[in-house]
Amino acid sequence: MLTRPDVAVVGAGPVGLAIAWRCATRGLRVAVHDPAPGSGASRVAAGMLAPVAEAYFGERELTGLLTASAARWPGFAAELTEAAATEFGYRTDGTLVVGLTGDDLAEARRLWSYQQGLGLPISALRPSQLREREPALTPRLRGGAVAPGDHQVDPRRLVDALRVAAERAGATLLPGAVTGLAEVDAPVVVVAAGCGAAALTGLPVRPVKGQVLRLRAPDHRPPGFRHVIRGYADGEPVYLVPRADGEVVLGATVEERADTEVTAGAVLRLLRAAVDLVPELAEYALVEATAGLRPGTPDNAPILGPLPGRPGVLAATGHHRHGIVLTPVTADLITDLIVTGRPDPLLTPFTADRFH
Ligand code: GLY
Repeated sequence: MLTRPDVAVVGAGPVGLAIAWRCATRGLRVAVHDPAPGSGASRVAAGMLAPVAEAYFGERELTGLLTASAARWPGFAAELTEAAATEFGYRTDGTLVVGLTGDDLAEARRLWSYQQGLGLPISALRPSQLREREPALTPRLRGGAVAPGDHQVDPRRLVDALRVAAERAGATLLPGAVTGLAEVDAPVVVVAAGCGAAALTGLPVRPVKGQVLRLRAPDHRPPGFRHVIRGYADGEPVYLVPRADGEVVLGATVEERADTEVTAGAVLRLLRAAVDLVPELAEYALVEATAGLRPGTPDNAPILGPLPGRPGVLAATGHHRHGIVLTPVTADLITDLIVTGRPDPLLTPFTADRFH
């Protein structure tokens, strides 16, 4: 890029790239700074688009934003497929929530009753109904529920597609690392640097470690189940995300730590819970064990919009467990703010000034 950009985005994860793509398609000159695009939390993420199953007690505003973003996903996926001329594993098979023991089922039911109370689409299923949908589930299951609107996408392929779409729309990717915002020359700077936002802005973003495994079905077959499965197995929460190419992502620990070491204990617990729920996984290859750092905030919700006292600097970070599902709404709200100068009311609960 020879001319000064209108917008500089710091961070080429899904959020930063989607903002760059949206801004570039609105006619803005965009530069994206990242020495290693897609190497942050999205590299490890499973890609669940789960506004219902991830609606937790005490997070109503976040649940509203998750729901708004999930509603944008079908249109976002269609536009991106066309813009990048590639698929990225967007699937709409729905999610099953399951409990192995009576205690597991009680825990799962407590949460889905809360979700039903918010009017979210999730309904209880008997063990036989669960196994009709997914015969690969263990016959030992005590029960569960289905959230038909909770979908999935492959985050690594999503990043590749967003990068192509952003570059085709005219955005420029710059490989230099940004260690301070003074190094970035643009009238609008968007900090979409995940955990890196803390050092760049002083925002209260902390790393929350997640350990994740990737398995592969034998003989290049697709996995023996199609739904995303979120389960509790002897008190251990686990999710299983099957991909058409045979991959199954198993996650994840949630640890208040900043290292990315994979520990034997976490691998043991994840595998035991997963195989207890879907016994055939014992025959799959274990192909990857990784740990990543989610950008967490004091209230677990993202930080979106202007940075107090820093004219021209916008934050799009702190997406914690929800970066992939929140990508479309984040990109749309930040782009609209840049283009029109007017904040969408959806942004109000998520601005940085709530921490001042
Ligand atoms: N959203 C799933 C996770 O953060 O593990």
